[in-house]
Formats: sequence, structure tokens, C-alpha cells
Amino acid sequence: MIYFDNSATTQIDPTVLESYQIVSQKIWGNPSSLHKLGETAFNLLEQARQQIADLMKVNSDEIYFTSGGTEGDNWAVKGTAIEKQNYGKHIISTEIEHPAVLNSLKQLEKMGYEVTYLPVNEAGFVQVADVEKALRPDTILVSVMAVNNEIGSIQPIREIGDILQAYPKVHFHVDAVQAIGKGLAAVLQHERIDILTFSGHKFHAPRGSGFIYLKKGRKLAPLLSGGGQEKNYRSGTEHVAADVSLAKALRIILDQEQSKVEQQQVIKEKIYQHLKNKSKVTIFSDITSNYASHILCFAIQGVRGETIVHAFENHDIYISTTSACSSKKNIAAGTLKAMGVPEAIATSAVRVSLDEHNTLQEAEVFIDVFDELYEQFKKINS
Ligand SMILES: Cc1ncc(COP(=O)(O)O)c(C=O)c1O
Repeated sequence: MIYFDNSATTQIDPTVLESYQIVSQKIWGNPSSLHKLGETAFNLLEQARQQIADLMKVNSDEIYFTSGGTEGDNWAVKGTAIEKQNYGKHIISTEIEHPAVLNSLKQLEKMGYEVTYLPVNEAGFVQVADVEKALRPDTILVSVMAVNNEIGSIQPIREIGDILQAYPKVHFHVDAVQAIGKGLAAVLQHERIDILTFSGHKFHAPRGSGFIYLKKGRKLAPLLSGGGQEKNYRSGTEHVAADVSLAKALRIILDQEQSKVEQQQVIKEKIYQHLKNKSKVTIFSDITSNYASHILCFAIQGVRGETIVHAFENHDIYISTTSACSSKKNIAAGTLKAMGVPEAIATSAVRVSLDEHNTLQEAEVFIDVFDELYEQFKKINS
């Protein structure tokens, strides 16, 4: 099997799974309980929080555990809106955000908030000048993703952060779900970023694990009210086993990060160079450093994305139609639409997404299968 769908999800790391099992079975106390079992669970949870904070080079009281990217994005967007409703009701975001952000914004619009959706250029990048133009006295939040999940374009987060230095009251949220472990620490460590969203299952941690970074002094209204866990910010009995294994997975993904990223870049370039000369192929992800090393999005003219996905699947190669969320809905990817890609080409797009376990040999097999399928598709379409 060749698994090239790592932006949709990654396989859990066996040692991470082992930690999950050990903690679930041996340290199953409730961290809020006063007895020894509870105390052990509490200490382990706080140790995991500290490990994550150290790896992210932030303070442990700036890390909050969540159930993943969707919760983190919802919390950043709605939590800011509720917290800051008396200061303003204007939010700036982009047309290419993940549905976890976009649909949260739509919900807020129904409640009277106003959202400016910034466009992207034909290469999939937000223009920094557009952010500046959109800022208003009643703007409370700017939410821009770090790495687009469909084509891998890296947004100008640092430059937006520089502009927001002059707007200290505005929350700056960055969805970093596709950015972790991809050599982008410099993008994510800008001092003006207030909230970062991360999801465990994108880096070999269990499904349903994640965390947000919330800068000290910034406030988000809680979305989950209850017993006051996570310093009253996110109630619910903590998922200690998931949180501990999340910390372990983060340590593993960040270990020798640069060489892992370079390996993915070599694989991406190999496939890119092969596809580049095919007359019926349109590539949306460049091999320059403006695009993440693990995502390659392309279309084969005249063939629907799902047909391409299943054709590869018949050869035991797993790719996807641009994003896991849109793939079963049979709709063109939002990012390609925002880039002005015609519907007929956008519905022919597929995404190859790599991780550090993929090899050049797999890329060679992929290329051979691609050539075989490409000839078949050409015959069908001629
Ligand atoms: C950019 C981005 N944000 C948010 C999410 C949602 O994350 P989760 O699946 O952990 O809810 C994803 C998942 O694909 C994503 O790619």
C-alpha cells in the first residue's frame, strides 16, 4: 500500500498508541479527583502540557487541550466573537479557510456579526495589503490559516502579524493544523499571533486529540461550560491518555524535522517534475518554498477527481480529492474556486499529501501507475 493522503489523516504512531493504551489502562483516574489515582493523572496531564509548551517554545499556561482542529477553530472564532462582542462585531478571514472556520463564521453572521472574506490570487495566496484595507475600528478578529489544506500554499502570516502590531486589541488566529512538523516554526512563532489551532491526528497522535495555543493575557469565551476544567476554559473530564500521547507524537514529529521536510520535498519534486510535462495536467501546488513540502494538488483535464482517486486505489495507492471534507460531497474545492479555477478543472483535482514515512520508491511506483492511468484516461476522452 502507498498512503499519500496524510493531510486527511495520518496513521497513529505505534509507540504513541502504546502510550495511549498504558495511560488508559494504568492511569485512568479523573485528574480532578483528590485521591492518589486522580493526582497521578493530573500530574501526567500537566507534564504533557509542559512538554507541548517546551516544544512550542511557549508557557504551559498558554496550552489548552481540545478534541482537534475543528474544536480549536470553532473556539478561536466563536470564543473571540462572544468575548469581544461589546468591542465590535467585525471579523476578517479568507475565502480559503477550512470549513471549521468558514462555517463558524457563517453561524456568527446569522447572529449579527459582519465578516470580510479576503480573496486569494490565482496562486492561492492572500494579499497582505487586503488585510490592512479590511481592518476597521470594530474589527475583533483576523483569522488566516498557515498552510492551505487543499493546495499547500503558505499564507503570509508573519507579514499579517507585522501589520497587526498596530492593532493590539484585535485577536489574530492562525489555523496551523497543516503546518505542524513542516519546518514552519518561524511562521508560527510571530509574537503577534494570539491563537494557534493544532490537531493530533495530522501528526500520528490519536483521532480526537488536539490543542490550542492562547497567548497569555488574551481571553476566549469558553464554548464548553461545566465543571471548570482547563482553568474554566474548556469543561469536561480530561482525555488524559489522548493528551499524553499527543505530547509524545509532537515530540516525535518535531525530532529531526528539517530532514523529514527535505525528504518530503524531494518526493514532491519528483512527482511534480513528472506531471509538469503532461499536456492534460494542471498543477496547483508549486515546488517553491511558498508551498508546503507535503501537498501536491493537480487536475487531469476531463477526468473527475473521484475517478482518479478510485483508479489509484485499484493499484493500492491512496490519494484524495483535494480535501477530506469535500471529497464525499462531490463539490469542487473551495480554494480552487477562490483562485478562479474553472469548475470543470476544479472538479478534476486531486491531492497527494505526504508524511515523513513516504519514500522515493513510492513516488516511482506512483509515477508508473500515473502514466498507465493517464494513457487510459486519454483514450477514454479522445
Ligand atoms: C486546515 C485544517 N483546519 C482544520 C481541520 C480540522 O481538523 P480536525 O479533523 O482535527 O477536526 C483540518 C482537517 O483536515 C484542516 O486541514
